[in-house]
Amino acid sequence: MVNVNEGLNPFQFAGTPVIQFGSGMLRKLVDVLPSGAQRILFVMGSFQRTNADAWEQVAAALSSKQIGYEIALIHHEPTVDWVDQVVERHRLGGIDAVVAIGGGSAMDAGKAVSAMLCTEPGDTVLHYLEGTPGYRAHSGRKVPFVAIPTTSGTGSEMTKNAVIAITDSFKRSIRHDRFIPDAAILDPLLTISCPASVKAASGFDALTQLIESYVSTKASPLTDALALSGIEAAARSLLPICTDASDDAALHEQMAYASMLSGITLAHAGLGLVHGLAGPLGGLFPVPHGVICATLIAEVTKRNLEQLQEQQADEAAGHGWAKYAKVGAILTGHSEQDVQGCCARLVAYLETLTEQLRIPRLGDYGVTADNLDAVLDASDNKMSPVTLDRTVMREILVARI
Ligand SMILES: [Fe+2]
Repeated sequence: MVNVNEGLNPFQFAGTPVIQFGSGMLRKLVDVLPSGAQRILFVMGSFQRTNADAWEQVAAALSSKQIGYEIALIHHEPTVDWVDQVVERHRLGGIDAVVAIGGGSAMDAGKAVSAMLCTEPGDTVLHYLEGTPGYRAHSGRKVPFVAIPTTSGTGSEMTKNAVIAITDSFKRSIRHDRFIPDAAILDPLLTISCPASVKAASGFDALTQLIESYVSTKASPLTDALALSGIEAAARSLLPICTDASDDAALHEQMAYASMLSGITLAHAGLGLVHGLAGPLGGLFPVPHGVICATLIAEVTKRNLEQLQEQQADEAAGHGWAKYAKVGAILTGHSEQDVQGCCARLVAYLETLTEQLRIPRLGDYGVTADNLDAVLDASDNKMSPVTLDRTVMREILVARI
């Protein structure tokens, strides 16, 4: 992984939340709240119904410490209006911490609410969304925020941004180093009741994030070590938790660990073309983010490898090729000495996994070969080890319609 004969590129590491990881760790919630907290705001979707026993334990633990709570329900991706309304309702309510429990939408919603509770009355999250007219930098002041994911996928519990929808087709991020959650509780038992189709798409998204950040041009030895550990864990767990071991706690721990690492590596090493296409696709069509990433990763990997092979004389391209081979070796158990074989097997593995996990195609959500221009206009290769042109990007999308 680290060539001892080479120097190391400079890198920054912004840190992670305090992490409480392990089955049953939900019981640590009271411990990670700010000392003296008297009132907290939960941001969640259907957690009380889907994990009724766990919710009862949380409520009892808070009650035993005389900690009161409010609940803001989120059943869709967070919008500007939703965030503003929740913040206005609770701005003067003495909220000592925001606790998000749920999937990616709850994580983003809670992160944005915690960031907005310290702003002036009447302020709107719209002002702090990157790339919007009238954009203002956020001070970073926020109410302490605890993230408790119930899906293994986005890694949002490790990152400093929240994606907020301005309209159905226009989403932007609020972002600040201080928005990295203060604490994250990763209790894999909470992910077991997740539907298989969600486990498949979100888990494949996590694997995609690990692969893209590992081969990223911004990767460091630190993110490489984390990404490889995550890829190993995802290789062991992703397929079985979606098929014949859907209630196996140990395998859900492996997947939750992989997902957590993917959040750290994407935040520090960046992502590639899959996510460069996912942003505009998700904005223009009603395709869940996990489905987009899962459905594209095999085809993007194949086309990236074709391009890298053409450029192998180039040192950077050779490095990218070798890294893909390492991923192929881990996922397939093939000897990494056989670089060519590992790359071919990697593509075959990802294609087979796409079938085994029954990942939908883009056409299932209304994407057609005739309506790709707006997607391609807004797409980019991000930190991909190669730059694919618009023609190849179009072919990738068409192959998955
Ligand atoms: Fe993703």
